[in-house]
Amino acid sequence: MPQSATAPGPPGIVTIVDHPLVRHKLSLMRAQDTSTSKFRQLMREISLLLGYEATRDLALEETAVETPLERTRAPVLAGKKLCLVSILRAGNGILDGMLDLVPAARVGHIGIYREPRTLQAIEYYLKLPDDLPERDVILLDPMLATANSAIAAISRLVEARARSIKFVCLVAAPEGVEKLHRIFPGVPIITAAVDRCLNEHGYILPGLGDAGDRLFGTK
Ligand code: PRP
Ligand code: URA
Repeated sequence: MPQSATAPGPPGIVTIVDHPLVRHKLSLMRAQDTSTSKFRQLMREISLLLGYEATRDLALEETAVETPLERTRAPVLAGKKLCLVSILRAGNGILDGMLDLVPAARVGHIGIYREPRTLQAIEYYLKLPDDLPERDVILLDPMLATANSAIAAISRLVEARARSIKFVCLVAAPEGVEKLHRIFPGVPIITAAVDRCLNEHGYILPGLGDAGDRLFGTK
C-alpha cells in the first residue's frame, strides 16, 4: 500500500502518494499512445491507492464478531461518514476506483467545465446528498491546474456545510496548489504528483493532457 510523503507546505497540507505502483501507473497514463481503455483502467487502479491514503483517518468502532473459533471484538467503520463528490466529467474516472474501496459511500456530482479562453469554471450540474453536515467529503478530480474548478466545487461543498473536505487528484500544478490553499487552506490535497507548471493555455506540464477527453475518448 502507498507510502506517502506528507509535506506541510504553508499554509495547507499536500500529500504526495509516491508509492512505486502509483508512479509507474501515472507514467503509463502520461504517455500519449496509451489507449482510452488502458487510461481508464489505470485511473481506476491509481484511485484505489490514492483512496487508501485519503481514507486513512476514517473513524472505527468495535463490534462483536463470531470467528469460527471464538467470540471477539473487532473494528468496523463507524456510522454515517463518507461522501465522494466527483467533478464531472473526469472525476468519474477516480470515482470508480474509490467506490471499489468504499462501496457504501454516498456520491455527489458537480458538473463543471473550464471556459477555454478565460479558464473560468462554469457550473452546469449540482447534485449532493442533503446530509453533508454529517459527512466527510472526498472531492475527486484528476487534474488541479489553475484550481478554478476545484475552488468552485469546494465553494459549493462549503455552502452545503460539509463536515470536512479533502481534495484528491492525480496531477497538480504548483500554481493550482498555491491558489487552492490561499483560498481554502483547510482543505488537504492528496495527489500522485505535483508537476512543473502550467502552459499558456492552462494545461499542466508535463501533465497527461486533457483528462476528460482521454478518459472518454472524445478527441
Ligand atoms: C478538467 C479537469 C478539471 C479542470 C482542471 O476539466 O478535469 O476539472 O479541467 O482545470 P482547472 O484547475 O484549471 O480548473 P474540463 O474543464 O476539461 O472538463 P471535462 O472534465 O468535462 O473534460
Ligand atoms: N485539465 C486537464 O484535463 N488537463 C490539464 O492539464 C489542465 C486542465
